[in-house]
Amino acid sequence: MSVEPSQGAGPAIENLLAERRTFPPDPAFTARANARAAIYDEAERDHVAFWERLARERISWSRPFETTLEWELPFAKWFVGGQLNVSYNCVDRHVENGLGDKVAYHWIGEPGDTRTLTYANLQREVGKAANALLELGVRTGDRVAIYMPMIPELPIAMLACARIGAPHTVVFGGFSAEALAGRINDCGARVLITADGGYRRGKEVGLKHHADEALASTPSIEHAIVVNRTGRGVHMVDGRDHWWHDIVERQSPDCPPVPVDSEHMLYLLYTSGTTAKPKGILHTTAGYLLGTSFTHEMIFDLKPDDVYWCAADIGWVTGHSYIVYGPLANAATGIIYEGAPDTPTWDRWWQIIERYKVTILYTAPTAIRACMKQGPQYPAAHDLSSLRVLGSVGEPINPEAWLWYHEHIGRGRTPIVDTWWQTETGMILITPLPGVTTTKPGSATFPFPGIEADIVDGDGRSVPFGGGGYLVLKRPWPAMLRGIYGDPERYRQTYWSRFPGMYFAGDGAKRDEDGYFWLLGRVDDVMNVAGHRISTTEVESALVDHRSVAEAAVVGVKDEVSGQAIYAFVILKAGGEPTDALAVQLREHVAYVIGPIARPKYLMFVPDLPKTRSGKIMRRLLRDIAEGRTLGDTTTLADATVVETIRENTGRSEE
Ligand code: PRX
Repeated sequence: MSVEPSQGAGPAIENLLAERRTFPPDPAFTARANARAAIYDEAERDHVAFWERLARERISWSRPFETTLEWELPFAKWFVGGQLNVSYNCVDRHVENGLGDKVAYHWIGEPGDTRTLTYANLQREVGKAANALLELGVRTGDRVAIYMPMIPELPIAMLACARIGAPHTVVFGGFSAEALAGRINDCGARVLITADGGYRRGKEVGLKHHADEALASTPSIEHAIVVNRTGRGVHMVDGRDHWWHDIVERQSPDCPPVPVDSEHMLYLLYTSGTTAKPKGILHTTAGYLLGTSFTHEMIFDLKPDDVYWCAADIGWVTGHSYIVYGPLANAATGIIYEGAPDTPTWDRWWQIIERYKVTILYTAPTAIRACMKQGPQYPAAHDLSSLRVLGSVGEPINPEAWLWYHEHIGRGRTPIVDTWWQTETGMILITPLPGVTTTKPGSATFPFPGIEADIVDGDGRSVPFGGGGYLVLKRPWPAMLRGIYGDPERYRQTYWSRFPGMYFAGDGAKRDEDGYFWLLGRVDDVMNVAGHRISTTEVESALVDHRSVAEAAVVGVKDEVSGQAIYAFVILKAGGEPTDALAVQLREHVAYVIGPIARPKYLMFVPDLPKTRSGKIMRRLLRDIAEGRTLGDTTTLADATVVETIRENTGRSEE
């Protein structure tokens, strides 16, 4: 199998050849940097001892651990024998240390309303919410589903779960009722925490009605707690549904944190794989807390007076690790913004940075490219001089976007950290360290201290510098996933079987002559649209779910803003009329089944699909067609005329 670079990677690599500038750290930054080059050496000497030292220093334990690592490939246990509570580590201990008045979050609602929560406020709110869960019968080990907009009650709800040892599963608010129900049923959640709705692009976006639809098919759910965010009238089911302002507000703020084992499940987060069924990625307590907090402090160079803004949604892993757990464990002051970057105008982010004097900004290449498209006049009109570190995550960043970010947002002064990681890895694994690493635009540079990453060929042999192949990880790390919920075999099969003894990330990568890692995108049937993983199979099955569709094939194609865009090829059932109206309807159907993020940007009706003789759809050829390239090898096609027929078909419907 050869590596197929993702769409978008090709031009990035070409441009990289033209763009050879390197960016060494500024000596003044290095002098004050949290990270020192020496930590690479310490971690390399003995990575287990390295993590052990950090775990003892950084985590407040209710009971110290005995064994740092038990590794029975592919199952890891970290800090065995220890007990701790994550909400205590993220909140209470800071209050005890005199930081009760320090701001944990500056929250900004899209319509312009704001709230400030100090660590002392957070402690009270988390205690009350945890007591409400207890009142509803939630016990340690019970799962709680969370489906919310970006409001302060979202991290509060997560911490309340962690306080009583009830694993949460946060479902991104943009997902459909069906997606929510599937996740609730997979993990058997007893309670759902949601809201009437939220604000996005100047509109009220309803959530409760999706939740109601989901709860019609989720027998495990006994109660729902509903935050009143928009004030829009919603239907409340007697006995099942409780307003947050009733059930939470009347509780005592005192709720003792429950110490749990290091390997107790902290949360599940569902992510797309190569099949239609999302996987419940399982994260546990101590290793995750250590991995996220340590990387956060080193990679963003967090100092006590920083104002840190990760502009992701908490519904994705970036928000879990780098809005909630990592930053709070470090007693950071963070920003949470509810809405879209263009509402009311494309100034919004830069206004927030100016107003709150944000010092660290962490966002995705898609957002950077969207801002680039609008032009530099928006950031130029604002004082961004507070910024001192910029981060990127979620997709390969093309050198142009990197340089634009550097010049127009960082004003040529700030280091950029391009951080590679995944829902599964829990923490950032490949990244520069600001003050230490010389960066190259478009490269995530090197593995974090203690991490052993490699690039291998199809037989699992390490590829020499200068070559490309598959990205693998060769030893366990503290925040790694512990499995796929309820399916250890799928865990082994998905991540540990392609190359024996190694974790296969599903990404292609290249290492240059200096050993820098360059990520090339997914090598499997997973698309990356605006930094979000969407499985081609999942979109195909949503299309086939429509009564007019006989068969569908979906590919990701290059998109100048979102990195990739979804392109669907659809065969209609006999008698089906390939009209524009039907194309619109099919797109909406996908949005309804999965969520608006999965709505295909392009849709083409075709009479047939290119397949191998064994019946496998040749997505590579469909991508060539979609991107107007000369076709690759067609010799394995069962019927070579099919591609010609599709190519002659000009009826592409576009969003
Ligand atoms: O393909 C890689 C891409 O995003 C995938 C992980 O997606 P998800 O689990 O949703 O987590 C995203 C946020 C951590 C990876 O397999 N990816 C993530 N970061 C980068 C990246 N690709 C290139 N460069 C990155 N910095």
